[in-house]
Amino acid sequence: MYLNANNISYAYKKNKPILKNLSISIPDNKVIGLMGDSGSGKSTLCKVISGYIKNYTGTVTLDNNLIETKDFYPIQLIFQHPEKTMNPKWKMHKVLSESWNPPQELMDTFGLKDNWLGRWPNELSGGELQRFSILRALNPKTKFIIADEISTMLDAVTQVQIWDALLDYCKQNKIGILAVSHDKELLEVIADDILLFNEINKL
Ligand SMILES: Nc1ncnc2c1ncn2[C@@H]1O[C@H](COP(=O)(O)OP(=O)(O)OP(=O)(O)O)[C@@H](O)[C@H]1O
Ligand SMILES: [Mg+2]
Repeated sequence: MYLNANNISYAYKKNKPILKNLSISIPDNKVIGLMGDSGSGKSTLCKVISGYIKNYTGTVTLDNNLIETKDFYPIQLIFQHPEKTMNPKWKMHKVLSESWNPPQELMDTFGLKDNWLGRWPNELSGGELQRFSILRALNPKTKFIIADEISTMLDAVTQVQIWDALLDYCKQNKIGILAVSHDKELLEVIADDILLFNEINKL
């Protein structure tokens, strides 16, 4: 399966385009890395691709089919700041099961401890919360993961553990990944190809 974003243009404010005629293709068996200057529009592109921004021009397709948005969105965005995407009034078991109930083995692989499930989001560290947001995104209906600087807040050892687990799961389940990062060394390890944002954005 291929995720294609074709000729995407978008501006938050009139006459101030952020994305212009940008096209990107991601196969389900690859990790595509994306690097670029701060403020250039990478997160904006991530939001377009994963359905958070809707009033763009161009198309986002899976094997040339437009995405049916009434159902579970098959392109899941994982943000840099997990706390911003979680309801502070929900305990972690509810935050997770809103998406699905992952098997215990997968929870162990991501180092997610059972006793965290009964806590509120503000009772966990950023790195602990990020494990929940990654696991939440790995719903069986997910076809692509858009990872927008997801490991910036993790120490080096945890970063490797989380990426290993994510790469392994995605490979086994034929989930393609777009990985946005400023960390060139990380992308060189995890990505099959690395794209430079300024080269694909036709501003
Ligand atoms: N909701 C918004 N309304 C108006 N402007 C916005 C909004 N979100 C982002 N921008 C602007 O759009 C531009 C692109 O932002 P974006 O977050 O996509 O950059 P980025 O490449 O992800 O940067 P970074 O590497 O720092 O994460 C920036 O100039 C930013 O200020
Ligand atoms: Mg960003």
